[in-house]
Amino acid sequence: MAEKVSSQMFPLLPLRGTLVFPYMVTPLEVGRPRSIEAIEQAVVGDGRIVLAAQHHVQTEEPQPEDIYTVGTLCEIKQILKVPEGQVRILVEGLSRVTLEHIDDANGYYEAFVTVVPEIDGEMHSLELEALVRSVQEEFGKYVRLGKKIPAEVLMSVTSIEDPHRLADTIASQLLISFQEKQKLLEIFPVDKRLEAILGLLFREGEILGLEKSIQQRVRKQMEKAQREYYLREQIKAIQVELGERDEKGKTEIEELKDRLQEARLPKEAKAKVLHEIHRLERMPPMSAEATVVRNYIDWMLSLPWSKRTRDRLDLNVAEEMLNEDHCGLDQVKERILEFLAVRQLTKNSKGPILCLVGPPGVGKTSLAQSVGRALNRNFARLSLGGVRDEAEIRGHRRTYIGSMPGRIIQTMRTVGSRNPVIVLDEIDKLASDFRGDPASALLEVLDPEQNSSFVDHYLEVPFDLSEVFFITTANVLHTIPPPLRDRMEVISIPGYTEYEKFEIAKRHLWPKQLEANGLKPEQIQISDNTIYKVINEYTKEAGVRTLERRLGTICRKVATEIVKGQTTSARITVSNLHKYLGVRRYIPTAADREDKVGVATGLAYTQVGGEILTIEVTVVEGKGKLTLTGKLGDVMRESAQAALSYVRSRAAELGIDPKFHETKDIHMHIPEGAVPKDGPSAGITIATALASALTNRPVRHDVSMTGEITLRGRVLPVGGIKEKLLAAHRAGIARVLLPAENEKDLEEVPANILSKMRITLVDHMDQVLAHALHLEAVAPETPAFMLPETPPVGSEQWMGEHEA
Ligand SMILES: Nc1ncnc2c1ncn2[C@@H]1O[C@H](COP(=O)(O)OP(=O)(O)OP(=O)(O)O)[C@@H](O)[C@H]1O
Ligand SMILES: [Mg+2]
Repeated sequence: MAEKVSSQMFPLLPLRGTLVFPYMVTPLEVGRPRSIEAIEQAVVGDGRIVLAAQHHVQTEEPQPEDIYTVGTLCEIKQILKVPEGQVRILVEGLSRVTLEHIDDANGYYEAFVTVVPEIDGEMHSLELEALVRSVQEEFGKYVRLGKKIPAEVLMSVTSIEDPHRLADTIASQLLISFQEKQKLLEIFPVDKRLEAILGLLFREGEILGLEKSIQQRVRKQMEKAQREYYLREQIKAIQVELGERDEKGKTEIEELKDRLQEARLPKEAKAKVLHEIHRLERMPPMSAEATVVRNYIDWMLSLPWSKRTRDRLDLNVAEEMLNEDHCGLDQVKERILEFLAVRQLTKNSKGPILCLVGPPGVGKTSLAQSVGRALNRNFARLSLGGVRDEAEIRGHRRTYIGSMPGRIIQTMRTVGSRNPVIVLDEIDKLASDFRGDPASALLEVLDPEQNSSFVDHYLEVPFDLSEVFFITTANVLHTIPPPLRDRMEVISIPGYTEYEKFEIAKRHLWPKQLEANGLKPEQIQISDNTIYKVINEYTKEAGVRTLERRLGTICRKVATEIVKGQTTSARITVSNLHKYLGVRRYIPTAADREDKVGVATGLAYTQVGGEILTIEVTVVEGKGKLTLTGKLGDVMRESAQAALSYVRSRAAELGIDPKFHETKDIHMHIPEGAVPKDGPSAGITIATALASALTNRPVRHDVSMTGEITLRGRVLPVGGIKEKLLAAHRAGIARVLLPAENEKDLEEVPANILSKMRITLVDHMDQVLAHALHLEAVAPETPAFMLPETPPVGSEQWMGEHEA
């Protein structure tokens, strides 16, 4: 087919990124005007045209030097004009040509070319045959591997026997770059060209093989991932059906992990929870162990590890709120405002630990409550009365069935912030026994140095309690274990004077009761004198709880009258008070008192505040027996013995028969008989009563006293002075004998009380007797019968504390 032509001229069509081999029939899209012009010229001529590739695809207008010097002479078989000025042609490659020279004719290139004849090369015909077969075989593999060349091509290729034709057909089919194709075009001897093709086929085969194995590997991975995804989706669907996932499609574990992120736990706690979540994941969900772990995680996640409320830092507003709820109690209020002030200046978030000590009903619990309100903090109350198990404070280890954190952590969960006000009520009533000592567990809670890492047995990781404002309350200080007492700031609330009670009643209790009973102020009125009467004749207490109850009774009665239609409004006066409260309960003490022999008035400090105690002594003929009654404790009995010994030692000076201890029986009784009493502070009172009974000199009824006595008659100091003075004042006793060493305690007594009292400081029993006894003896009489002056309250005790 090759025509022997030498150096002829044809229009030139530069090809971009492709080329045409001899024997090939190929469609081409032509768009460049010069190229279209060349085609037109070719058609005008004999339809032959030279196609040669330009070096660079991106060159838009190639110059002669941009075009390869080996090309193909082709025949245009068909021309098709397509829209947008494009031309589609079908060309058939005729033979290789070398481009000798390129001319720029009118609007197109003319190429002067020499046709390259087919060269067989130096190869032996058998060798060539072998090469041909190899090429055919490799090409077959190549086609099968690549799967991009249609199988018909392979069929037609295997049927080609002419090596020239075979070489060029395969070359044109190979999926290689046009530069590589150009190289093949430029190899003239057919054997060399076939060798080059074989090399390329090997290389391409290898690449295709690699590609295939990569593809297979990737596909395998993809398939695995897809399979897993599919299975997981199935598991999810099953779990939703079983109720192990919520509607959002989350498993318990995922949800716990989400909650863990939200809860912002400290590092250690977070690691612990994560560990437990992983354990839970591997457990059968319905097992008992899983329930325990789940419970634990739930506890950990619901604690306020990092939630805080914002404090009200405005001192004035806080003060206003405190005053709104309670009158008086200045010391406590002051301390709370100090805390706020310091908090503002230092940004120190450590909460103080206060201990409010005082008799019942003085407002300890309710004041603590209003601290929470004033600071704008969450508030919780935790009663420690009767707590006897350490685990109640600090929790049980998780090994116990149904174990739980202790009360402190439980409370933290309920309040939901890490800086609440927590009231530990009745801390003096903590018990302790074989189950451990709850007080020592509290040491850690209430120690400002330690409580930033309070460890509950159940949680196992430390919880920070340092921002909690702890307020503990107690009725007496001495039952609080000293180490615990030492850690708290003790503020004592001694009980109210009559005037203070009146103020509290008028400003707080009365309005509160009106509201509680649904009464409007215009429906009920009470005069000031009536309130005083309620205080003095219907209550006898250090606090105001009974007073509040009495006022409540009045309101209830009036409310009933109004509802029954008996009246529309009521005025409570001194004269009609009995209608509402019945007969008076307490007779003002001073009124019916008289000086008696063998009856002395002492002052006691009990759980309910200060009290006055009557001590009666009767002396009858006998054999020197001493009988003590009235449920006296050991200390008080010894104190009575000491008093007796003192009186005996002073028998001569007092004009008592020195042999009285052999001829007289002495009976001492302290009402009320059923109430246990103890403590040394009744010492001088007992001695006074004894001396009076033995000398028949009456005791002044308007004198009361307190103090411990020694055998030599020295008067030792005692505790609870403030409370005792308030009690004396309540009882209407103006003169009080106090141990001289207790003088310092008078500072704490409200000035208005002190001004109404006549206090005499004594340091020896002789002084006591001089002040308390009449000089003149009276005729012996039958033992006096007296109404008990002590209120009917429970567990009355004498506290003779030296610490005062
Ligand atoms: N200073 C006060 N101002 C206004 N109300 C008061 C005052 N003191 C006490 N109260 C009221 O008296 C009642 C009893 O107070 P609260 O229960 O706080 O006593 P408490 O000291 O905790 O007694 P206890 O030791 O028995 O627990 C409450 O209703 C309280 O509001
Ligand atoms: Mg209380």
